[in-house]
Amino acid sequence: MRLAIRNAEAIVTCAANGRPYKRGHEMDEVGVLHDVNVLIDNGKIAAIGRNIADADCDSLDASGKIVIPGFVDPHTHLIFAGTREHEFALRANGATYEEIAARGGGILETVRATRDMPKSKLRAIADRRIDKFLSNGTTTIEIKSGYGLDFKNELKILEAANELKEDSVAEIVITFLGAHAIPPEFKNDRAGYIRCVTEEMIPYVARRKLAEFCDVFCDNGFFNVSEAERILKSAKDHGLKIKIHADELSANGGVTLATELGAVSADHLENISREEMKSLGKSETVGVVLPAVAAYLRTKPAPTREMIDNNCVVAIATDFNPGTSMIDNMRATMWLAITLNGMTAEEALNAATINAAAALGISDRLGSIEVGKQADMLVIDAHDYSYIPYHFTENRIHRVIKNGTVLEFP
Ligand code: NIG
Ligand code: FE
Repeated sequence: MRLAIRNAEAIVTCAANGRPYKRGHEMDEVGVLHDVNVLIDNGKIAAIGRNIADADCDSLDASGKIVIPGFVDPHTHLIFAGTREHEFALRANGATYEEIAARGGGILETVRATRDMPKSKLRAIADRRIDKFLSNGTTTIEIKSGYGLDFKNELKILEAANELKEDSVAEIVITFLGAHAIPPEFKNDRAGYIRCVTEEMIPYVARRKLAEFCDVFCDNGFFNVSEAERILKSAKDHGLKIKIHADELSANGGVTLATELGAVSADHLENISREEMKSLGKSETVGVVLPAVAAYLRTKPAPTREMIDNNCVVAIATDFNPGTSMIDNMRATMWLAITLNGMTAEEALNAATINAAAALGISDRLGSIEVGKQADMLVIDAHDYSYIPYHFTENRIHRVIKNGTVLEFP
């Protein structure tokens, strides 16, 4: 029940000092404590200090190592069937994401495969993926639906997600993304599908509490701003919190919609405009950038430096999905955030912890090492936090602690 982490070289807290996130240049500071131990009691951080542990307490010796908060991944599409490596290869030959999608590939290809797979199998595959995330230090994961695109199959994915949430060691936050693409049955009746999402799916999902958030892919060839507005307003009316995929393929006004509607996060933002950056920086909406996507799509990354200079709250996420990110690793995502998006090591670490928790509305209990918070921590075999994103491929995670329990990996 009680565990003391002793002798760590440093405890990197990522604490926002009572605030729900770090904004703009506040992200420069990660909060490094030396010569302190951490006492965990009943899954929570009970004390941080020099002399905290009593004799009957279990001990974890972290000599020569550092301790950081467990990673929070606030944007994944983790439940899907099949893979799309051929698209990755096509893009290497010059094809674009939009061209592939317009030909019926992309999301719709994964929809076909996911519709054909029973829930139990989808769940088993997702479960193995979550184990991988955990071994990479991700202790909290958001999971979106969005590869069903009809009532029955969206429900199947959301039920699989809820079963995983019930059983998994990782904490799971579920998002309904019925508006990920227009399904083939409604190719010539967009309004009909939007009615189906707003009048059938959202009310059902909300009533059965199958998801906490609703998201929309607001972009060229997917849902326009007024369609996204209708869907997100309906979600809010039914008590769901909202997120949006905005400005990924084009500058489309999705961020303005997000700030106006009070979205918890606006995600992607590769093409965010200067005006949108300014309004995002004045809002409570977290900007979630997804560094893997620009690499997978061979396009430009979100202008993250400018976002930070405009006082935005920036988080990072893997966006794990078969089309634009087969990256199940927040540490590698930090590396990408530094090399592609121009973030500093401090910004990337805050973006992967406290601000990522804020993007899910749970930073009051997760995302930093502070007394009273849930004991989700990583013991890392390094002397300094800058080592974490420095080595692209090496996993230096020595121990993953979730809810006060030290996890065992096969
Ligand atoms: O976040 N942008 C929309 N959704 C995913 C891609 C999904 C897919 O291609 O299967 C994304 O990049
Ligand atoms: Fe996404």
